[in-house]
Formats: sequence, C-alpha cells, structure tokens
Amino acid sequence: MEVIACGPPLGAELRGIDASTDVSQQMPDVLDAFTRHHLLFIRGQQMTDQHIYEFASRFGHIESHKNRDATGNVFSVVHGITNLDAEGKPSRKPAVYENYFWHSDKAHEAVPSLLTMLCAVEVPPEGGDTEFADLTRAYAALDAGTKAKIDGLRVEHSWGYMRETITGRPPTEEERLKSPPVIHPLIRVHPDTGEKSLYIGMYCSRILDMPLDEGQALLKTLTDHATQPQFIHTHKWRQGDLVFWDNRCLIHRAIQNFDLGAHRRVLRRVVVKGKPEWIGRSPSS
Ligand code: OGA
Ligand code: MN
Repeated sequence: MEVIACGPPLGAELRGIDASTDVSQQMPDVLDAFTRHHLLFIRGQQMTDQHIYEFASRFGHIESHKNRDATGNVFSVVHGITNLDAEGKPSRKPAVYENYFWHSDKAHEAVPSLLTMLCAVEVPPEGGDTEFADLTRAYAALDAGTKAKIDGLRVEHSWGYMRETITGRPPTEEERLKSPPVIHPLIRVHPDTGEKSLYIGMYCSRILDMPLDEGQALLKTLTDHATQPQFIHTHKWRQGDLVFWDNRCLIHRAIQNFDLGAHRRVLRRVVVKGKPEWIGRSPSS
C-alpha cells in the first residue's frame, strides 16, 4: 500500500488497497496514515453496504442515527446521502440540507463521532465537492491574544439550534427531549495526538458565561479564520471513491458547485463512534 499525501493542510490517497477485502495486514499503516493526514481516500472501490460496515468497524463501534431520509424513514447504520426527493428525483433542497454548512458530525452528542466514511455511488458530471477544514492548523495559527482569550471557554452544541437556524424545521418537543444540548470545551484536545484544535461548527449555539451576541460573533470570527483556503482540502468525487475523515479535528461541508435540481449525487455513509474525551478533565472545570 502507498500513502500519497495531498496536503498541506491535510488528506492523503491510499493506493494498493481494496477496502472490500480482508485488510487486517494493512490496518496498522492505514491507522498511522489516518492519524497523520486526518482524511484518507481510496479510488475505484466496489463496496456493498456490508463491505462499508465491515471496513468502518475496523476503526471502532458503528453509530446509529436520528436523521430521516426524504421518505421520512430514520437512517439505517449504513445509509444514503443524496440530493434525491421522495420520488427519487434530484432536488435543490435535499433532505439533509444541513450538510451544506460547516460542521463536525455528531458534535451535538456528549460523545461525538470519531470518523465518517462516504462511498460515492453516483456523482454529478462536475462539482458536488466536499470541503474539509483543518482545525488543528487553524488553532495553531491563531495569535497569542486570541488563544489566551478562548482558553477555558465552553461552548454549547445543540442539534435543535441547528434545526431552527439552518433547516428552518424546529425540532418537535419529542425530538428536543431526545437531543438536549451538550457542552464542550472550545479548545478541543485530540484524544490520540494530544493536539489542540477548535470545537466549532453549525451546532454551536452559544458560548457559556458570555453575552449571546458576543459569543456568536466570536464563533463566527473563529469559523471565518478556520475556513480560509490554507486550511482547506477539497475532495472532488469520482464514482467508486471511498473517503473517511477524522471528525475530532476537522469540520466539513458539501458545496453547491453543481445543479442540485438537475444531477444525481448519491453516496453511502457510515459513522464510527468516538470515545469520551473528558477523562481526567471535568467538563465543569
Ligand atoms: C456527511 C456530510 C457532505 C457531502 O455525510 O456527514 O456532511 O459532501 N456529507 O455529502
Ligand atoms: Mn457531515
């Protein structure tokens, strides 16, 4: 297996590996490349949902989901991410429209995810890219004054807030009770590397102990900083691409650089659970 770095800032292609086969011999090198590059992709894969599930399971336990597809069904563990409506036609406002805004998957959970894996089934003739921003580099590039100012701050991540502000579909009372907001440190420490990054994205509703507008302005400044071109890697999809990335130090978004109403974009998706990051550090300290 070869690891071909795309970065800086991040990303690498793996060649000479077929993720639908028994890759146990290659896993130590895959994990090492994942830690170093944060996002890996393998072209030309032919993956059934079972293959995707089995390959993802090598990284940890598999997440279940609360989101629903265009027909109203809750996503299965391996599920579609598409721009198709309930009739299977391309739509300008896909069911999971929030993917078009900067986020880290399941940051609104007490124990957010480790990685997300997507496999491209159908891609538009051009565009339909996904962007990834490196929050470790972004944190490191902050000036000393900003680092000091944000040290120790805590941020609320709320699925309900995202639903209200982005999708315009406020959660029902039942959904709200199932997904209460969670508090995370604004400076996140990667559990494997110990590196600091920023805990930001579309679920951030407020900074604790700070006036609402001031906190939201600070979050916007940090997001604008972290999503400058020097911190971004863009994945240009080809059919058969298998891409997986580290949600613990990246944010990502789909971009609308294709006609969503005209072309089909169909990916299969699975998410791997993270581990608690609070060990030895009380959330209230
Ligand atoms: C996701 C996601 C972006 C895309 O699947 O979590 O944000 O480009 N996808 O489809
Ligand atoms: Mn996502």
